[in-house]
Amino acid sequence: MTRIVRTHSQKNPGVNPTSISPRQMPSVSYTMQNLFISLATIAVSSASLFFTLFVFLPLACLRALLPLNMKVRLSELRRNKVVLVLGASRGIGFNLVKQYANEKGTVIIAASSSMDILRKSIISLGETPASIQCHEMNLTWPHQKIADGIRAMDRLYGPITHIFEVGGLSNNIQDWAARSLNETREMISANINGTVTAILATYDLMKDRGYGKICVVGSLTGIVGPANMVSYASIKSFINTFTTSLRLLAAPCGVDVVCVQPGFIDAQMTRRLREQGGQNLFGSAEDLAARMKEGVEKGGRGIVIWPESHGAVMYALRGVNPICEELLKWVLMRLSMGKQKNN
Ligand SMILES: NC(=O)c1ccc[n+]([C@@H]2O[C@H](COP(=O)([O-])OP(=O)(O)OC[C@H]3O[C@@H](n4cnc5c(N)ncnc54)[C@H](OP(=O)(O)O)[C@@H]3O)[C@@H](O)[C@H]2O)c1
Repeated sequence: MTRIVRTHSQKNPGVNPTSISPRQMPSVSYTMQNLFISLATIAVSSASLFFTLFVFLPLACLRALLPLNMKVRLSELRRNKVVLVLGASRGIGFNLVKQYANEKGTVIIAASSSMDILRKSIISLGETPASIQCHEMNLTWPHQKIADGIRAMDRLYGPITHIFEVGGLSNNIQDWAARSLNETREMISANINGTVTAILATYDLMKDRGYGKICVVGSLTGIVGPANMVSYASIKSFINTFTTSLRLLAAPCGVDVVCVQPGFIDAQMTRRLREQGGQNLFGSAEDLAARMKEGVEKGGRGIVIWPESHGAVMYALRGVNPICEELLKWVLMRLSMGKQKNN
């Protein structure tokens, strides 16, 4: 039997998701407002360049000259690490497990929703100096179950000193409208509700002990993304903001928070995109995991961005005014139609 898959535009013949109508052309007052925004952006961006060059660069050079015991607390050097990785079965999460697997005395709690795949991945590592424990944790579980699960792991293997929240779902970028509601709800459930619950439950434990390291994976897509990745991009925008703000709130309690913002990474999530070409544009999950570990262990870095070239382009695009941002999202959507992300 042949299965007919109808696209959104086939179901609604009058609707072309990539067309622009005259109503969307900007008015004069709106265009003037956008010109004003662009001028203000140039001023702020110049001030930020000046401040980074003459204040933060000398501070960073001074930090490089400080002895290790002034940059890292001695109690931290003496402490055995208990590293919880959520989303450890493959991709970036599994590469993080590999980063810590060679550390004698470290306990790694590898968690993910499918235990079979997780166990196979961990077994593929063979004997490791670090002890690796596999645990089931589904980020779509109810809040209480996730929080209880974190506390149980902490009692069993802890105290947890590090948490890396890497688990997450991506979406199909080709035909958003046809699959929007269920897909969006599932992504919000895992990537926002589950992530925030796991992070805050761990933060509560770390805060009381005055020590801990939290690392959460957001995305550069949360800065500017194609219009048809509306749910994924909005969710990642939330995670970027949540994590960078938590960093400041948690610092006085002795808890370091790092936000990771990957560009395109060679992982299962981007398999179909890679099949459509541009393979050399993708960063490796292993390189990203190494940078995540370095950022978390050495400190002095609020955001880990990889590949760096993707970060430079996306952060530069933050300077576009709202009219140009709308155009940009539309152009990115046109470019990505026909290319698919899969999970
Ligand atoms: N790859 C990229 O280009 C890219 C770019 C920017 C950001 N990111 C972000 O990086 C993170 C990891 O992505 P990846 O590229 O490594 O993707 P991946 O290879 O698809 O791995 C995703 C991981 O998340 C776990 N996971 C999925 N649903 C889960 C759930 N409900 N509960 C617990 N764990 C769950 C998966 O394990 P199970 O299926 O076994 O649960 C798997 O370990 C995601 O947050 C993604 O949004 C990726």
